[in-house]
Amino acid sequence: METVKFFSGEQVPLEMHKVRMVQRLNLLPVEERKKAMEEAGYNTFLLKNRDVFLDMLTDSGVNAMSDRQYAAMMLADDSYAGSETFYKLEKALQDVFGTKYFLPAHQGRACEHILSKAFVTQGSVALMNFHFTTTKALITESGGSVEEIVSDAGLEVTSSLDFKGNIDMGKLQEAFDRLGKEKISFVRLEAGTNLIGGQPISMQNIREVSAFCREHELLFIIDASLLADNLYFVKVREPEFADVELNDITREMGKLADIIYFSARKLGCARGGGILTSSDELYSQMRTLVPLFEGFITYGGMSVREMEAMAIGMYETLDFHVIEQTPIFVKALSDEFLARGIPVVTPAGGLGCHLDATRFCEHLPQTQYQAGALASAAYIAAGVRGMERGTLSEQRNPDGSERFSNMELLRLAFPKRVFTLSQVKYIADRIDWLYQNRELIGGLEFIEEPPILRFFFGRLKELGGWTDKLVAKFRADFGDSL
Ligand SMILES: Cc1ncc(COP(=O)(O)O)c(C=O)c1O
Repeated sequence: METVKFFSGEQVPLEMHKVRMVQRLNLLPVEERKKAMEEAGYNTFLLKNRDVFLDMLTDSGVNAMSDRQYAAMMLADDSYAGSETFYKLEKALQDVFGTKYFLPAHQGRACEHILSKAFVTQGSVALMNFHFTTTKALITESGGSVEEIVSDAGLEVTSSLDFKGNIDMGKLQEAFDRLGKEKISFVRLEAGTNLIGGQPISMQNIREVSAFCREHELLFIIDASLLADNLYFVKVREPEFADVELNDITREMGKLADIIYFSARKLGCARGGGILTSSDELYSQMRTLVPLFEGFITYGGMSVREMEAMAIGMYETLDFHVIEQTPIFVKALSDEFLARGIPVVTPAGGLGCHLDATRFCEHLPQTQYQAGALASAAYIAAGVRGMERGTLSEQRNPDGSERFSNMELLRLAFPKRVFTLSQVKYIADRIDWLYQNRELIGGLEFIEEPPILRFFFGRLKELGGWTDKLVAKFRADFGDSL
């Protein structure tokens, strides 16, 4: 394995790149952070970037690009139809996954839109390890529903299991026996399961699910948006693959799935998306939807500059030193938290470090949105913008009742190759302070609640004036520090 060991034995996330362009950051005083949070309706999506010190909302479209990606952007061939850039990207994807066809789309959810239009029928059920917000919303929009069949360990916050994102084969069999082939729109396996702590899936699981779907003639789709981190875990946690080339792993995935789709805001570190298949039939079922919803088949709503960057980014996903960066930084921050007794999802996964708001804010009821409250408190305490991944991110049940999330998490995402170790130490320090003062964190209540994807635009208010008390304690403990 190509890792660098330290003489001291210390585990340090070593950057295998150098920084050649930087962006100035702004850290507001705590009083102004409190005001900004209030103006944003206690919803971190509504904060202005200028008010954010460390933006850990997501890794989507905000990853650091390489010099080779920027250089490639200059070569983009801008034309409505038949752009040379498209063929370059198509070739890159064929090289990486070994699949025949590439359907471009402007981002991951646009791929999901096309998949839902093509394969979801009224009353059908999509089986998946775990839903992603946009996936579920789009399937529901098309009249279908989602059933989650992740391993039980996937829903346990602390575990030592290596592949908590795996589909439970027993649950898949049971769902098939209960629903029957006709009712199942497809089986979807999400790499690096976003909503349950960036937990990976194993190649073994992909093989098993593929074999099951082939035997029972079910459509098998892999969501590869978070594949880069997942590939790292396959290499380091699945012994069979320790010495296997990354490209051999991605090509095997390409053979095992009927369809692979991805958000290229994540995979490939650019901005766009795509659907891959080797099936003539599936390709023709989806093809007309691209010009209808996205743009012509050779750009699909993407800028050709981004497509050039994406092609290079896809090849760079096959470089172990590129894909290891997020997981080793996530682990470094998780380890800092664990050393201070702060509850986090274990084992550390990809995408980001996930604080367990259920335990962090155990004095609050779930009805007061523990993870949302923690997201607001973390911004006030540190200027760090995380993302609530809990009940606020759920849709209400059809009867309007609250659907409580299995986990209440605050995700501190690591955009790839963006943050440094001293910033990790700063976050650990401020969250440690917040943990010591967690009793000061109060609840939230909706004042504006949109019916769909409410976490994007919803506005809330704090209950009982707790943010003033938090700011006063910050000042008492930190003096005039930012
Ligand atoms: C697993 C997964 N699937 C799909 C999507 C949707 O991608 P996009 O944000 O590009 O629409 C995301 C985005 O975060 C994701 O994490």
